[in-house]
Amino acid sequence: GHEHPRSTTDGPLAGRHVVVSAGGTREPLDPVRFLGNRSTGHQGFALAEVAAQRGARVTLVAANTALPVPDGVQLVPVETTAELQDAVRAASADADAVIMAAAVADFRPAALTEHKIKKVAGTGPAPIELVENPDILAGLVADRPREGLLVIGFAAETGDEHGSVLEHGRAKALRKGADLLAVNDVSGGKGFGDQANALTILDASGEIVAGPVAGSKHDVAG
Ligand code: C5P
Repeated sequence: GHEHPRSTTDGPLAGRHVVVSAGGTREPLDPVRFLGNRSTGHQGFALAEVAAQRGARVTLVAANTALPVPDGVQLVPVETTAELQDAVRAASADADAVIMAAAVADFRPAALTEHKIKKVAGTGPAPIELVENPDILAGLVADRPREGLLVIGFAAETGDEHGSVLEHGRAKALRKGADLLAVNDVSGGKGFGDQANALTILDASGEIVAGPVAGSKHDVAG
């Protein structure tokens, strides 16, 4: 339904409205195909659940998830990046905090064909032209739907020859300008599905404000 479930009246987040995005966006190519990613939504659902348990009113904008909706959480299902952006911005207009835990597609097919794309044998590779999607998180920082809205991002990082997970996270914190950025180490398949997660929380200047914390996605959501 579209009614807000009755929220808990006590807890440290009582009276607060928290918006969480979860899952992974899908960008249609034709009526039956899409470009997508493997995000399951577990971390975002855990964040929504914990916020509700602490008394917040919670709107969970969920892209292509199949998880049970936590008690006291209002689900807004979406599919594409454009839909996720609209739903997050609308819900954030009266929110205290928005947590962007969704895996958002950076690009989408330039054109959506009306009919199923046919295979033509012997024509070789068929390139797909892509155009850039908006960066929803950066947009929330640049143009906050509500003054004082706390904007929180997630950054899945792997260490490489250019730097450690934390160094990449710091660079992203400075680039994105979110009030808080939860950096998680996804090297070696960590942090996917219902596996344990490890997070370090940085502020907009890249300073560590919490963590590292490790545990189940429910543990780190707290
Ligand atoms: O740059 P990167 O995709 O690693 O940043 C991750 C953060 O940015 C996440 O919070 C994600 O939800 C958000 N994001 C976004 N819009 C995009 C890409 C990522 O809001 N187009």
